[in-house]
Amino acid sequence: MRMRRIRNNKVMREMVQETTLEVKDLIYPLFVVEGENIKQEIPTLVGQYHYSVDMLDTEITELENLGIKAVILFGIPDNKDSTGSGAYEKNGIVQKAVREIKSKHPEFIVITDVCMCEYTDHGHCGILDECGVVDNDTTINYIAKIALTHAEAGADIVAPSDMMDFRVRAIREELDKNGFKNVPIMSYAAKYASSYYGPFREAAGSAPSFGDRKGYQMDFHNSNEAMREVELDLDEDADFIIVKPALSYLDIVRRVHDNFNTNLVVYNVSGEYAMIKEAIKQGLLSEKIIYENLICMKRAGAKLIITYHAKEIAKMIGER
Ligand code: PBG
Ligand code: ZN
Repeated sequence: MRMRRIRNNKVMREMVQETTLEVKDLIYPLFVVEGENIKQEIPTLVGQYHYSVDMLDTEITELENLGIKAVILFGIPDNKDSTGSGAYEKNGIVQKAVREIKSKHPEFIVITDVCMCEYTDHGHCGILDECGVVDNDTTINYIAKIALTHAEAGADIVAPSDMMDFRVRAIREELDKNGFKNVPIMSYAAKYASSYYGPFREAAGSAPSFGDRKGYQMDFHNSNEAMREVELDLDEDADFIIVKPALSYLDIVRRVHDNFNTNLVVYNVSGEYAMIKEAIKQGLLSEKIIYENLICMKRAGAKLIITYHAKEIAKMIGER
């Protein structure tokens, strides 16, 4: 068959397209801070902002008008301590943000990132043992407690990003015990220890004060290990599986897609966004690159994409 007969014609070309990108595939990350009347641009993430809770209503209305259905929330507290207590306070920053959004936009899907690194004074994603190493088994009890406070505030989905072992099961048990059987878990199942998170850590003030996250996040030399991580999280009853980062990790996305029947999500992370924005700003790349990249994520097998590009791509898709 000569594909050119079809390719030469724009309409036919579109008719045979195998991959599509729709606005409902997009999840938009939002950073929430304490205070009032704050909408402040994040220096490391141009076009992204820190919002105080009172500014969320307007922002969500804008997202709804663009057809975007879901956000994932990150909280930046004023105070941090060794046990990250701000993460599981009833009146913590994320809990307040969830209540605010759900009270005004009940249909809008609010996903919460469940982790401790924004709340601990040492910046690690868990509780440290006496040697200064993250204690997996202690941490998962805290993680479950955080997830419960998010569900109590009205979160639709909880998304643990800490990469501790058995935390999906711990969260599931805690939610079920407290009447939240219907709140799904979106697990960062294959999350690599990556330099691509740099701009986010600046934005969230969550860089570890010593060491790195290689003890709990995955080694980017490995791919089989990701299959095992995904399998374990599915056994523990995860409802969605996240692979992260996205662009340089599409081989992992494809393998997860082919090996597991699950709701597969990719996280197009901060460093990927920052690189692309800078290249566009410098005139090196056309902004069409954003659409191309997101299509490639879908082609690799992703169902949903968490991306800082959500608003601009929603506008682009609308104009196509
Ligand atoms: C918290 C968390 C991180 C990201 C999402 N949740 C940072 C990290 O693990 O250091 C990264 C998101 C991004 O880079 O856009 N654990
Ligand atoms: Zn973390």
